[in-house]
Amino acid sequence: MDPAPASAADAADGPSARTPFLSHLRVRDVRTYEVSDVALGPGLTVIFGPNGAGKTNLLEAAYLACTGRSFRQAGDHEIVRRGASAAHVTAEVTTAHGTGKLTVGIEPGERRRLRVDGNPVESLLDHPARPRLSVFLPDRMVLVKGGPALRRSHVDQLVAVLRPSAAPVRRTYHEALRQRNALLASLRARGAGVEQATDELLPWDRAVARAAAELTTARAAVVATINPAVRARAEELGLAGELEIAYRPRSADDADQVAEALRERLAGDLERGFTHHGPHRDDLAVRRDGRLLHRFGSQGEQRLALLALLLGETDVIEQSTGQRPILLLDDVMSELDVIRRARLVDVIAARGQALVTVTEAEHVPGADDLAVGLVSVVPGAAETIRVSTGATPARD
Ligand SMILES: Nc1ncnc2c1ncn2[C@@H]1O[C@H](COP(=O)(O)OP(=O)(O)OP(=O)(O)O)[C@@H](O)[C@H]1O
Ligand SMILES: [Mg+2]
Repeated sequence: MDPAPASAADAADGPSARTPFLSHLRVRDVRTYEVSDVALGPGLTVIFGPNGAGKTNLLEAAYLACTGRSFRQAGDHEIVRRGASAAHVTAEVTTAHGTGKLTVGIEPGERRRLRVDGNPVESLLDHPARPRLSVFLPDRMVLVKGGPALRRSHVDQLVAVLRPSAAPVRRTYHEALRQRNALLASLRARGAGVEQATDELLPWDRAVARAAAELTTARAAVVATINPAVRARAEELGLAGELEIAYRPRSADDADQVAEALRERLAGDLERGFTHHGPHRDDLAVRRDGRLLHRFGSQGEQRLALLALLLGETDVIEQSTGQRPILLLDDVMSELDVIRRARLVDVIAARGQALVTVTEAEHVPGADDLAVGLVSVVPGAAETIRVSTGATPARD
């Protein structure tokens, strides 16, 4: 991008310097689309159209252009429009300093071709020209409702963004754990006793314990950091009661204590042939007034909690990186009453660029305001009806 994109140093230049936005999106042979050009503004844009028309596909294309990946973890064959041989997406990114172009080309069987301003790049993920994105997809409700593995990996993604120096520890831990488990399985097969196992496992126990304590410390720190922001967003969105994201570590944040706990549990580990103590079993509890939300919350409340979590995290990421993420919100209005929908619009419209999909534009309170962008999607094509101005919409 030319000139330099927004960085933490630009924060002093005022909000616009921190606010990259997608000003144009061109999709060719992506999913349902043949060729569509969509102009976008810096504020709230409502993407509307019937079921199956291609609204989620358009958000996916925006994400693809900015990251080189699909948020549906889709393979090349799925992304390329049926009957076409290659897919292309170009996003124009505007910052206070200028405009840049991110391009992704997908041809099944070939490496994905990623370009910034026409120059090939290996990866977009850590490229300074690409804007940060925060995505809400309905299937992310599993973060509240599903198993702990998803929540662990979600927290680890936050660690990667908010405490980059601690990001490698997750891999270090899993590698040490894998080696310890391999040795446990071999000791078990050899019929080894606890004494022999203690000796042979000693170096691995140390490595596992050290990485476990570091991982636990990093996870606890990011959860503590996001909690006030998540709680504040929950209140703004009208979720009754006090929302709390509670980290539930399964081991200590001190290496000596973890090593001690591993020794105490060695007989059990030897019997099973794997390690059953450590941060690979951590969880997060999403609670409202002390009660688990996935057991005691309504559908709408769970959705509000997830939105509060994502928006609160986005606030913290913005404070930490100096860059305001663009919001891609798929089907976000479902299950919310009109008051909560209005509150959500107030929150997201004040934040910067947000692309929101709905079947009917009227489902978004304030969508008729001239400040709000409108994109109509019909099967095969998307068309800009109005470009958002970035001003906060008025509502009646
Ligand atoms: N590679 C492809 N080629 C052609 N069509 C595709 C391809 N991949 C997906 N589709 C079609 O895209 C449509 C789904 O698009 P999308 O999920 O964007 O719809 P939507 O507008 O978000 O609908 P809803 O309101 O139900 O969420 C489906 O009809 C599907 O068959
Ligand atoms: Mg959809």
